[in-house]
Amino acid sequence: MTTPADLRVFLDAAARRPHSVGAIAPSAPQLCRRLAQIVPRTHVSTVVELGAGTGTVSDAIGERLVPGSRHLAIEIDPSLATRLQGRRPDLEVVVGDAADLRAILSERGVDRVDAVVSGLPWSLFPAAAQQRIMTAVAHVLAPGAGFATFAYLHALPLAGARGLRRLLHDTFDEVIASASVWRNLPPALTYTCRRPTVRSTWATPCVPTAYPAAHR
Ligand SMILES: C[S@@+](CC[C@H](N)C(=O)[O-])C[C@H]1O[C@@H](n2cnc3c(N)ncnc32)[C@H](O)[C@@H]1O
Repeated sequence: MTTPADLRVFLDAAARRPHSVGAIAPSAPQLCRRLAQIVPRTHVSTVVELGAGTGTVSDAIGERLVPGSRHLAIEIDPSLATRLQGRRPDLEVVVGDAADLRAILSERGVDRVDAVVSGLPWSLFPAAAQQRIMTAVAHVLAPGAGFATFAYLHALPLAGARGLRRLLHDTFDEVIASASVWRNLPPALTYTCRRPTVRSTWATPCVPTAYPAAHR
């Protein structure tokens, strides 16, 4: 739940860095719950959240996580990260850039994750930044893991949002857009993506290494 104090911190960050926060309010519970559905309720998991803000999506993720799971929340704005860590000491809040996802995880001994949930303002990023972050996401997903993100309805015709859709379809075998979430400010939809098609560094060879080279 967003408290008045959270809202103040969020609006302050949005005023200081409008092109980084990219929202006029924290996401509504309906949108947060939709995004969090990518998080497994069936087993202990490791989940990464990108652009956690004041933690509305973090709370929805927390409601699904099985005890013993790990939840890393990456947030570029130090004031938002400090606020979130103070309110949710159970989270591993990292002040950092989502583009450095792989390094951030590797420094913490994490190689694969079971879900990535994004609150990033994708449509404000240049194409190269979108690509860099999406590639990093694809590379850290474990087999069977998924990625969820959102987009604002009014921005869907704009170049940034069209670029994001193209990138999602280029990066994942399955991309499912949800129905509109009207009770968000502004209204939004989510994308749920599975099975990265980009080459993964984690991919194990299909052919056993003992197999003679001529037959590989
Ligand atoms: C649209 S707000 C979403 C905040 C929160 N997840 C929510 O849904 O209410 C975007 C958030 O992403 C953060 N952000 C922007 N660029 C980022 C980046 N490159 N790496 C990590 N966080 C970033 C912003 O500071 C902001 O908190």
